[in-house]
Amino acid sequence: MTSPELPILVTCGLPYANGPCHIGHLRTYVPADIYVRGLKKLGKDPIFICGSDSHGTPIVVNAEERGTTPTELVTRYHDHFDDVFRRMGVEFDYFGNTEDPSNHIRTQSIVRTLMDEGHVYPQEIRLAYCSSCDRFLPDRYVEGTCPYCKSPARGDECDQGCGRHLEPGEIEEPVCKVCGSEAEYRTQKHYFFRLSAFSDFLIGYLEGLGGTSNARNYALEWVKQELKDWCITRNLDWGVKFPGSEDLVVYVWVDAPIGYISFTEEWARRANGDWERYWRKPSRIVHFIGGDIVYHHCIFWPAMLKGAGYTLPSAVVASGMLKIDNKTFSKSRGYVVWVIDDYLEKGLHPDLLRYYLASYTSHTKELNFSWSVFGEKVNGELVGALGNFVNRAVTFTTKNFDRSVPDGDIDPEVTTKIEATLVEVKEALAEYEFKKMVDGAMSLADYGNTYFQSNEPWKLAKSDRARCGAVLRNCLLIAKALAIVLQPVMPEKMESAWRQLGLPGTAAEALFEDGLVAIEAGRKLGAPEHIFSKMDESMVSDLDEIFRARIAAIEEKKGKKKGEEKMSTITFEEFKRLDIRIGEVLTAERIKGSDKLLRLIVDIGSEERQIVAGIAMTHSPEDLVGRRIVVLANLEPAKLFGVESQGMLLAADLDDSAVLLGPEKAVPQGTRIR
Ligand code: MF3
Ligand code: ZN
Repeated sequence: MTSPELPILVTCGLPYANGPCHIGHLRTYVPADIYVRGLKKLGKDPIFICGSDSHGTPIVVNAEERGTTPTELVTRYHDHFDDVFRRMGVEFDYFGNTEDPSNHIRTQSIVRTLMDEGHVYPQEIRLAYCSSCDRFLPDRYVEGTCPYCKSPARGDECDQGCGRHLEPGEIEEPVCKVCGSEAEYRTQKHYFFRLSAFSDFLIGYLEGLGGTSNARNYALEWVKQELKDWCITRNLDWGVKFPGSEDLVVYVWVDAPIGYISFTEEWARRANGDWERYWRKPSRIVHFIGGDIVYHHCIFWPAMLKGAGYTLPSAVVASGMLKIDNKTFSKSRGYVVWVIDDYLEKGLHPDLLRYYLASYTSHTKELNFSWSVFGEKVNGELVGALGNFVNRAVTFTTKNFDRSVPDGDIDPEVTTKIEATLVEVKEALAEYEFKKMVDGAMSLADYGNTYFQSNEPWKLAKSDRARCGAVLRNCLLIAKALAIVLQPVMPEKMESAWRQLGLPGTAAEALFEDGLVAIEAGRKLGAPEHIFSKMDESMVSDLDEIFRARIAAIEEKKGKKKGEEKMSTITFEEFKRLDIRIGEVLTAERIKGSDKLLRLIVDIGSEERQIVAGIAMTHSPEDLVGRRIVVLANLEPAKLFGVESQGMLLAADLDDSAVLLGPEKAVPQGTRIR
């Protein structure tokens, strides 16, 4: 049980400042924002902290590819996320950046403490090293084979196979991502966090951890298997320097969560708050994260906090997966909805998407986004049920009671229904079940519509004006309660309802309990307006079309790449005109001034030919000498980089790299191919 006096800190997983915001991100941030707004309605005073995750190899690689610096890249995306969150009504008390000095300082201080306490030790390890780039290859700089499942993998993760996190040095057959050369292994001193020593602590800790059961249960499974010590240093320039070492930085998963602490410090500096209340003394820390980073938040992070003497998180809330149109979310395949380009810039109101994300399904289950369901929800639930009810209550009162709230008793049945709604909404918040919260509210809206309909105020207006007034006062109370319980979900839209009801202050300031307090008789209503407007079918299909066109364009491009486009047929006579033969590479060398080209001398039986081939990125000259290859010998000669090429070497075109063809068994050079 949590005592009510504990200070509450809510955080969201830090987005990598490495690309634009999509609705997959919002699946974590919107519910967290709803939760924080809900806590305020319970009279609590939480702080809400997030920021950009600016380190790690993908950011360095991305900046290199775009010809810019990591600093420039992360600044751009930091500003982007800050802007998107504001526009989506996700209101952090502080949105920091892990590159800010306070995070460097806090990270180094925590790492030093861990070293002083004996939780960090040095060890020589074998690491992939590229001799042509003359550097060690951390994480995403190296690709190769997963030691566990033998799938192609990246240096830090088996992304195409078993999904395991790979420790430095584990990957097999390493290849440098930058230049494509085979990497070698060299030893170097790195630093390890003694995670294995925290098993017993973690088992006890996880058993009492709040939040969603998916996070707790996965983490317990992992701990009960075996925890390996964790390499916390990397060979990079970009990141937080490892204390006492010039050429190592800490692994990004060390300094990123420490951002939660340093951003609290930054918040405290600005808001005259006290960060130690949250991180050094008993408090209630709630982390909202995506389901893919449970390991980091339930294992690495609490062990680090424990080792360094900071307050442990009370709850980890992990969201389920996102699907787009029932397909797995994928940026590269086009199954993505960008928050700015595809949503906000299309003139859609943020609250509609917030409503969709909260109401579609339970927080831990798979959420499917499609424009057709979006349209149905807006039209059926928001316009048809909720908007319609509030509008009927307000316009009917405006017309028949000169815009002022009539007098009359509140029906006990209405009070009971509102009370039940409040109980359900509060339970839902405590369980991190945002769908249950919205369902509770929407059932009150349905109740309101039925109440209005069955009491027939339009008849009462003529027959029993006093009762008519009382019915409307009841309806206005229901509308007020709706504005309050739905304000965390749709903050702007519910302020519109609040103004129409002529209420003082804001819906944001109101507490849940205020939903039971009838609006005083005689109060003037605001001008009626429709809170929601209907999306017509053509609007929904236009949005859907944009999405489909993007997927089709990507598929077409991929099809072309694989040579799937239909080519016209040729005759056998035409084929016979091609002089294709087996050749043997006699010599091979790089061509000055070109990264891509090699100059080969090839014996094709009858003669020697000079052939220029674009394979320098994937093949070293030494490896080619003596190789049997396939040559198109009667291709018209051409000059490349001033060197004449008298033929063409045949290769399979695999994702922009060349795989050389060769005979199945030994065949003399000059042998014709038919
Ligand atoms: N940037 C990470 C991701 O998107 C999340 C970092 S969360 C933190 O997966 F705890 F490390 F900050
Ligand atoms: Zn694997």
